[in-house]
Amino acid sequence: MNIRAHLAHKLRQAMSEASIADNFPPLVVPSKRPDFGDYQANGAMAAAKSMGRNPRELAQAIVEHLDLETEAERLEVAGPGFINIHLNSRWLAEQLSASVAPRGEDGKKPQTVVIDYSSPNLAKEMHVGHLRSTIIGDTLARLLERLGHKVIRQNHVGDWGTQFGMLIAQLETHLEHGENAELALQDLESFYREAKLRFDADPDFADRARSYVVKLQSGDKRVRELWQRFRSVSLHHSEVIYDKLNVSLSPEDVRGESFYNDDLARVLADLDKAGLLKEDQGAKVVCLKELADKDGNPSVAIVQKQDGGYLYSTSDLAAVRYRVGTLKADRIMIFVDARQSLHLKQVFTIARKAGFAPPTVSLEHHAFGTMLGPDGTPFKTRSGGTAKLADLLDEAVQRAEKLIAEKDPELSVDERKVVARKVGIGAVKYADLSKTRTNDYLFNWDAMLSFEGNTAPYLQYAYTRIQSIFRKAGIQPNSVNAKLIIDSSEEKTLGIKCLQFGEVLEQVADDVYPHVLCNYLYDLASLYMRFYEACPILKDGVDPAIKHSRLRMCHAVAETLRVGLDILGIEVMERM
Ligand code: ARG
Repeated sequence: MNIRAHLAHKLRQAMSEASIADNFPPLVVPSKRPDFGDYQANGAMAAAKSMGRNPRELAQAIVEHLDLETEAERLEVAGPGFINIHLNSRWLAEQLSASVAPRGEDGKKPQTVVIDYSSPNLAKEMHVGHLRSTIIGDTLARLLERLGHKVIRQNHVGDWGTQFGMLIAQLETHLEHGENAELALQDLESFYREAKLRFDADPDFADRARSYVVKLQSGDKRVRELWQRFRSVSLHHSEVIYDKLNVSLSPEDVRGESFYNDDLARVLADLDKAGLLKEDQGAKVVCLKELADKDGNPSVAIVQKQDGGYLYSTSDLAAVRYRVGTLKADRIMIFVDARQSLHLKQVFTIARKAGFAPPTVSLEHHAFGTMLGPDGTPFKTRSGGTAKLADLLDEAVQRAEKLIAEKDPELSVDERKVVARKVGIGAVKYADLSKTRTNDYLFNWDAMLSFEGNTAPYLQYAYTRIQSIFRKAGIQPNSVNAKLIIDSSEEKTLGIKCLQFGEVLEQVADDVYPHVLCNYLYDLASLYMRFYEACPILKDGVDPAIKHSRLRMCHAVAETLRVGLDILGIEVMERM
């Protein structure tokens, strides 16, 4: 049950009966304070203004037509024309009983959603900059799947372009010296540096590197083989990270830039046919007056270089067409940082003009800010280099293990290892996901690993506390199906919160701000703690019917936490 949608529907009916035109929405929102009811409808004011009527009177007229006999115990008009809705506890209990682990149920038609995320460049080590794309994109993939959509993950890795000529020429040298590729490429960062130094210092090597670029593009067998070796070792590095991170990307989701290579000439031909191409100093460009600067100069996107080579933008155009035409996407979401905003605006605009994406397909770039180190500048390692993701994640697990050893010395070593992984990785992911996506944020070990506040450990701990109640009671959590009785204000607030899960999921699916889900889970856990303080469960003297109702409430909260964290790619545990 989506309470908000249900109330909005009822309100809209009442508004019609009160002769308010259809284009005025009822504006139903959860109330900020309990004395304003559980929900409020704020649509009367705008309607009254345009109808030239007194807003309080109009609100009163809506209330008179409002059929919320079973849902509400009280309705009132407040302030300039708010309608406060106090929900009926019996009705709430019934709704909650019907769905212990609520799902989203927006009734929207299932869509095919292509999600382009993670997408590291294979020439280099995956670094912390890729962390945000990977975990935010993965959250949306899990969420939309849960809401019943068909999600197609696309890891648009950078596996093509001129730097690969240099890299495979260098790899060739290593192989000629009898080294194996895995060992030579163990540290991609220093491999890249070594290749670049040689490229700059040794003209013969530079010539060879350049000739390899040409050979790679024309499909030369040996050069392609070298490239494949490089590519697969580098991809393997990313897979190790996805594993550590509990990210749902698999090798089958890799659809890198190289995949589009054979299609690029056709993209150019089609742009030409659509009359979009211009020549500019030998290069082929598309001029976009839609994206003109404030002086009216059109934005220029290069799609083919003077030497005939294609660009990042060309393969992105091919990707849009593939995703629309072959994958049948209704919605395409790309998760990459804000610096690529102009690039993607250009790609989307050209794709529309060329007819690669009809207006019915939604093209979305979801940008995010930068992860900053404690000094407020982009995150670096102690030695000042770009931080390797793998090292960062290992450190997270080590720190978590230390904390857990202090917190619960009774945990066996094996169990502690498992819990440390879930807590450490969960903390890193949650710290990121709980910040407004578009802002920069400070990476702070102590804050993210704290058991207090809006953190993963706090939520995981709340979950384990509920599990321990069931252990103490000697009852299987999913075996309680007692009747829910809501009679304290703590139970009512907590019950409503549980029921709002579906609304929150839908909101995040639409607006793509995962921090909204994090805030929701944090509020839920905090309300649970209040309920736990106020409503005894296993104490002597608690009426068995109340005890079982409260256990059922506990289970609803635990399931909501578990499912919510799972959408964020974070695991729970029985104890910690
Ligand atoms: N490989 C790119 C980078 O690391 C990100 C690719 C994002 N996706 C896309 N379709 N352009 O910057």
